[in-house]
Amino acid sequence: MSARGRELLVAVAIGAAMVGSIGFMAAFALHNDIHWQGGFLALAFAGFMFAALGWARWILPREQVEEERSVGVHDTRNGGPRSGPIFEATHDIERGAQQLNRKKWLSRMVLAAVGLFGLAALFPIGSLGPEPDDTLFHTKWRRGSRLQRLDGSFVKQSDLNVGAMETVFPEGNLDDAQSVAMILRMPDGVGRDALNGYIAYSKVCTHAGCPVALYRAADHKLVCPCHQSVFDAANDAAVLAGPADHALPRLPLQIGDDGYVRADGDFPEPVGPGFWEHA
Ligand code: FES
Repeated sequence: MSARGRELLVAVAIGAAMVGSIGFMAAFALHNDIHWQGGFLALAFAGFMFAALGWARWILPREQVEEERSVGVHDTRNGGPRSGPIFEATHDIERGAQQLNRKKWLSRMVLAAVGLFGLAALFPIGSLGPEPDDTLFHTKWRRGSRLQRLDGSFVKQSDLNVGAMETVFPEGNLDDAQSVAMILRMPDGVGRDALNGYIAYSKVCTHAGCPVALYRAADHKLVCPCHQSVFDAANDAAVLAGPADHALPRLPLQIGDDGYVRADGDFPEPVGPGFWEHA
């Protein structure tokens, strides 16, 4: 095969790599089947591989030539000698430069293909999903939300006996695990600022996020069954025993004219464990 033909083959391989990259970007942007995306990626890689092999085998000079050169000064300009070591060296350099010029279009194709591939590599960033915004810091509790049980009923002021505990969600958000809370009915005079005996805390353990499921009414202890952290329900759910290292957030409450117990806003701090862990 002629040198020109080999260069064309390498160019076709580079072109295939470019088509593969463009195809991948299009398939990704149009949400095409993942097989299309994979197929175009495979085409891009195969094109690059074939181009690299062809370049190494056919385009890079393979032979190494050594030649003894005598030292001497021969000015080839202004009618100087047209032969001799300096003239030959100058001639070699000029010939190399011509070859380089011939390969320039191929080099430009390589640069374009690499650029397109780099651009295509940025597209999967779009799969990382939406930014969490401030959803990690807030729950679905709003001022006025009624406290809803899993069976759909709402907590009324008269519902709980002293010593009772119930699991509740913000009204209309029974599937929101981050917002789950528990409401307790404390004896008179127990618990700071209890509202007619009612206090509510987040049910998400501040150690590793398990539900704090056990309430021992006799001594007002809340116990997480996962690693036995104990919280003091009578004292803002302060930690009595670890491994949890900070209290359960407290849900502010109000009681409406209709007798329903309602939230008086969101938790004042993020619930559960996470990057916001208190130092
Ligand atoms: S998750 Fe509650 S103590 Fe570990």
